[in-house]
Amino acid sequence: MFEDLAYLKWAERHYRSVRVNLAASGIPDAPAAMLSPHASAGTPGPSGLSGLPGLSDWSHWTAFRDGLAARYDVPSAEVLPTLGTSQAVFLACASLLEAGDEVIVETPTYEPLVRVPEALGAVVTQVPRRSSRAFDPDPEEVLAAMTPRTRLVILSSPHNPTGHRVSDTTLEAIHEACLELDAWLLVDEVYGDFGPRAPTTARKVGERVLAASSFTKSWGLRWARAGWLIGPASFIEDRAMTALRHTAGQNGTAHVALGVAALEAQEALDERTRHIVGDGRMIVDRWVAAHDALSWRVPPFGLYGWVEVAGAIDVRARVERAYADQGLLVAPGEFFGPERSAFRIGWTMDDDRLDESLALLARVLEV
Ligand SMILES: Cc1ncc(COP(=O)(O)O)c(C=O)c1O
Repeated sequence: MFEDLAYLKWAERHYRSVRVNLAASGIPDAPAAMLSPHASAGTPGPSGLSGLPGLSDWSHWTAFRDGLAARYDVPSAEVLPTLGTSQAVFLACASLLEAGDEVIVETPTYEPLVRVPEALGAVVTQVPRRSSRAFDPDPEEVLAAMTPRTRLVILSSPHNPTGHRVSDTTLEAIHEACLELDAWLLVDEVYGDFGPRAPTTARKVGERVLAASSFTKSWGLRWARAGWLIGPASFIEDRAMTALRHTAGQNGTAHVALGVAALEAQEALDERTRHIVGDGRMIVDRWVAAHDALSWRVPPFGLYGWVEVAGAIDVRARVERAYADQGLLVAPGEFFGPERSAFRIGWTMDDDRLDESLALLARVLEV
């Protein structure tokens, strides 16, 4: 049974008409024209797409695989283009899980990482990521939750909602346990391309690691659906491709054509991202420090973080009121786990608007 995805349903209702957006976790949509820098056919039409070559050309399938393989330093045969990270996560789960299998998922987390395995009949156990460990999962706790029926462990890195990475030593320890129990580790790395280090993937940690990602967050290309799943070649060719045929036929070619165009435009997209990220993290850090009721563990980079509010405050109720009265939005903590007294905040707006928006947020939250 496919249960409601409460967070996505809420986001669909709220994000499209927000005035002061402190809720977004990714770069705002890039204009389609950025993916057609070599367009020779005059001005783009209303779609912005004229000049984008070969949306129906199957050769982009191989070109996108090869481009991603070069970018993340893995063999092409390990890369499966997908419709966003969402489809990659779904394919990984659908390829591995049967009713009654056990799955370990972090908490707090991005809701589909729990609901997708549940929809496939798996039993999910959640393991906390704690501020006291810089939101690095405790491998001992993960191992203690694993049983011979555990088939999959799912983590996000960087973590949604806190922005902190899973450390390499934690990934290695969990992977070791997966090898022993014939289980897999799936890392959702859709936020992986923020930050100073060169593009890389958790896939390299070992044989039983799958990695899911896309250009949605780091380049504002949600609309392109240019995503991928990386895993062992035999898994990709056999199980993941089979699951893909079950869900979306062959996925078509538009997403891979747009993915290739994005790789060609990467310098301009990176520059845009650097500009949008700006100094927001430090501005929010100063704002949190100036309010006794607020605390956070400042994320090492990126575009969003997780703020805890002292006292038994119903953040959701205050956020709904702020949205109704002011068109202001942060993402209430309850969509990511049991924390009612926390919210995820993003700084996609210009730095000079951020200060005044944060002042308004403090007023509506009454902190
Ligand atoms: C952790 C995580 N995974 C996946 C997604 C969806 O990504 P995509 O647009 O690539 O499907 C999101 C979007 O918010 C997310 O936060």
